[in-house]
Amino acid sequence: MANRPRHSLVTGANRGLGLALATALLQRGDRVVATARHPGKATALNTLTGQYPGRLHVLPLDVASVKSRDQLAHELPLVLEDDSLDLIVNNAGVLHSGERWGKLHQDILEDSLRVNAVGPLLLVQAIEKLIADHATVANISTQMASLSTRSEFRSPSYSMSKAAQNMATVQLALALRSRGIKVVALNPGWVRTDMGGAGGELAPEEAAAGLLQVIDGVRDQDSGHFLDWRGQPVAW
Ligand SMILES: NC(=O)c1ccc[n+]([C@@H]2O[C@H](COP(=O)([O-])OP(=O)(O)OC[C@H]3O[C@@H](n4cnc5c(N)ncnc54)[C@H](OP(=O)(O)O)[C@@H]3O)[C@@H](O)[C@H]2O)c1
Repeated sequence: MANRPRHSLVTGANRGLGLALATALLQRGDRVVATARHPGKATALNTLTGQYPGRLHVLPLDVASVKSRDQLAHELPLVLEDDSLDLIVNNAGVLHSGERWGKLHQDILEDSLRVNAVGPLLLVQAIEKLIADHATVANISTQMASLSTRSEFRSPSYSMSKAAQNMATVQLALALRSRGIKVVALNPGWVRTDMGGAGGELAPEEAAAGLLQVIDGVRDQDSGHFLDWRGQPVAW
């Protein structure tokens, strides 16, 4: 469809980097589906709905839940109105802090895997029909997922689950290649959010701007790659 506005979906868009990404996408003219676990409490997103009438839809999604992913797949066609998605940003993520060697918990490890790795992979599978050919899927990863550069014992559940997400990126890139859908893992840098803390190097708006520039530049040959917010390759 010529010159139609792009349609983008961002998960975990009620705060932090996800909110900054959804805001930046609206500012550039996209139609946006923003997901939140509790839309009724997503005050900032609901304010944006008023600022961009008809261009922002807020839908519920707990990315770790099969039922919630299926519900989103059911509700999405109603808001897309025969359109399809040009960009999916798997942004929702969790970092369980305070893990100590000798006191690691199975439930923390499993929750991290469900939210950070299993969820994004199965979400894309659940909504594949609604993704346009030649679209882009951006999985928000982290430097802490890099197996070859990790040099300290810290947050193993987060590092392991994001490393698994990186493999999900590679697998998705292969699964969707025949449709020209590009799938990348993106390290957003150290961002001042609830997760990144006040000491982060980048404001969420700066990280979002960088990531969207990288996403816009993703070519077929970049699919399955791990890049940072400046477009530089990150070592697996
Ligand atoms: N901040 C950094 O420095 C940094 C660095 C590298 C990578 N990242 C990645 O960037 C992404 C965004 O992080 P952030 O810094 O913005 O973190 P954040 O401020 O903690 O926000 C996390 C977002 O993910 C959502 N979320 C958590 N569990 C979820 C679930 N089960 N289902 C759906 N949504 C869920 C949260 O929703 P609720 O409000 O409902 O909890 C929230 O919207 C994450 O993938 C993170 O790993 C961040």
